[in-house]
Amino acid sequence: MMINKRLIGIVPESRRYIAGNVALQWCSLVANIALMTSIACFLQGIYEGTGGRTQTAATAVIVAAAVVVRFLCAVGASRMSYLSSKAVKRTLREKIYRKLLSLGASYNEQVKTSAVVQVSVEGVEQLETYFGAYLPQFFYAMLAPLTLFIYMCFWSVLSAVVLLICVPLIPVSIAVVQTWAKKLLSKYWGQYTALGDTFLENLQGLTTLKIYQADGFKNRQMNEEAEKFRKITMKVLTMQLNSITIMDLIAYGGAAAGVIMAAVQFSGGQVSLAGALLIILLAADFFIPMRQLGSYFHIAMNGMAASDKIFNLLDLPEADRKTAAVPDDCTIICSGLKFSYDGGREILHGVDLRFPRGGFTAVVGESGCGKSTLANIFMGKNKGYGGSVTVGGVELSDICEESLLESFTYISHQSYLFKGTVRGNLLMGKPTASDDELWSVLERAKLADFLRSENGLDTAIDEKGANLSGGQCQRLALARALLHNSPVYIFDEATSNIDVESENDIMEKIHALAQTKTVILISHRLANVAGADCIYVLDGGNVAESGTHEELLKKDGQYAALWKAQQELENYIVNAKAVKVKER
Ligand SMILES: Nc1ncnc2c1ncn2[C@@H]1O[C@H](COP(=O)(O)OP(=O)(O)OP(=O)(O)O)[C@@H](O)[C@H]1O
Ligand SMILES: [Mg+2]
Repeated sequence: MMINKRLIGIVPESRRYIAGNVALQWCSLVANIALMTSIACFLQGIYEGTGGRTQTAATAVIVAAAVVVRFLCAVGASRMSYLSSKAVKRTLREKIYRKLLSLGASYNEQVKTSAVVQVSVEGVEQLETYFGAYLPQFFYAMLAPLTLFIYMCFWSVLSAVVLLICVPLIPVSIAVVQTWAKKLLSKYWGQYTALGDTFLENLQGLTTLKIYQADGFKNRQMNEEAEKFRKITMKVLTMQLNSITIMDLIAYGGAAAGVIMAAVQFSGGQVSLAGALLIILLAADFFIPMRQLGSYFHIAMNGMAASDKIFNLLDLPEADRKTAAVPDDCTIICSGLKFSYDGGREILHGVDLRFPRGGFTAVVGESGCGKSTLANIFMGKNKGYGGSVTVGGVELSDICEESLLESFTYISHQSYLFKGTVRGNLLMGKPTASDDELWSVLERAKLADFLRSENGLDTAIDEKGANLSGGQCQRLALARALLHNSPVYIFDEATSNIDVESENDIMEKIHALAQTKTVILISHRLANVAGADCIYVLDGGNVAESGTHEELLKKDGQYAALWKAQQELENYIVNAKAVKVKER
């Protein structure tokens, strides 16, 4: 029913805490029974005039002891709840984290980032209450009426039976509510994640929305979604309130039935006064645990819905564990390489490329021809290619991600800078680097002067490097890449945000790097690739031409045409500048 074996199995240590919690609550119940019994006997003693000093003293001692025991049990039980919640949170978050790690760089092919965030924060939080409150209550709610029933049988079998029979009516009413609550709750969660998705996306794109003054529109859109969410939340709350009312009716009705039974039996002389009083005092206790369980019921439903989401995430297929490493000879050879993102439209139509170890190879071509796609295949982000890609003779798809990321450094115009300091961002490239080393790469990336005028290596960096210019971001990303010191570097439009002069600077660095490393350079600007050992010209997912700059010019094909056009444009700009200078 509402117990998910897999969920409990995933956090085995929680069993101990749940058992402890139930045991403590049960002790508390026993203390309560002792308390009520002593009071009932005491009252009977007064009524019959048989109670003496000793009975008064004994009652006082029992009452005091019971109160202390109940207090200690309550403290202990909440401690157990806390411990099991803690264990659950830690274990689940760790499992989710590990899963994401093993899904690897391409995790967001299978699951949205916002969904992961929600599941691992909100979803786990829901389960915390499931383990901490609902599960212990579930077992206690079975144990308590049985214990009371057995004890009551010594006083009045009939009343005990009446009370026991009424208890299961509560779970029955829960089951009835559950059938339609389940649908409602899964809709509720659907709305909730949808709202989260939109919110995250709009927040990330807020600047763009402002620029296009589309924030008002998005605002209305979000208000609509929020309104939908509010409505469904109210529905859920109404459902919960109604089910609580039903349960209350059953609980108090049942208790009343037991009390009436006791009164009738007492007047018939079948039950002693103490017995009747005891039944009156304890009748409610038959129902309270089940009633409490009922009010945790929505927690359980939420927990179930959340756990489904967590298991969906944990069950995502993982690529087989790969073991091969990138060999020392890291020549990359693509033969008949095909790729498609969705299994439909093919982006690369079987290309043959060769990137020799220590060579400087360039890939050029029109926007959308598949250059970044190719780079992402090399980085293991685009999985499931056709044909073959080998690195030093080892098939790329057999190479484990760790080794790949250690050997290949990818620098694009979108390289991510993290909130923190310059030092923090650089140390990602090489955790052991000394400050001297950091300054030397910053010098090479021509960023040292700027940083010296700021706060040096401790200059603060905002999220995504928002407080730096586009060019400064790219230089910092370049410096980090240089530190990484891997055998293969892939530059994908790494200088696209930089003015021509600084671009030439960075290109110089890249050319210098190509003396010792394997460099793959993707660039729109042909002047950048002219020095490459070999240039591949891609056209719509095919290799149109290849060769050195001179060879390609001689061929007088696509490359030559593009080269001429770009030269003319650049000359025009240079001339225009010269004219301007003269005019002054
Ligand atoms: N994540 C993706 N999912 C689906 N299709 C994609 C994805 N990324 C790129 N594409 C498609 O693949 C084709 C090649 O894109 P790619 O990014 O490789 O081009 P590119 O050569 O790097 O272009 P640019 O010079 O503009 O960066 C495009 O038609 C694009 O629509
Ligand atoms: Mg690209």
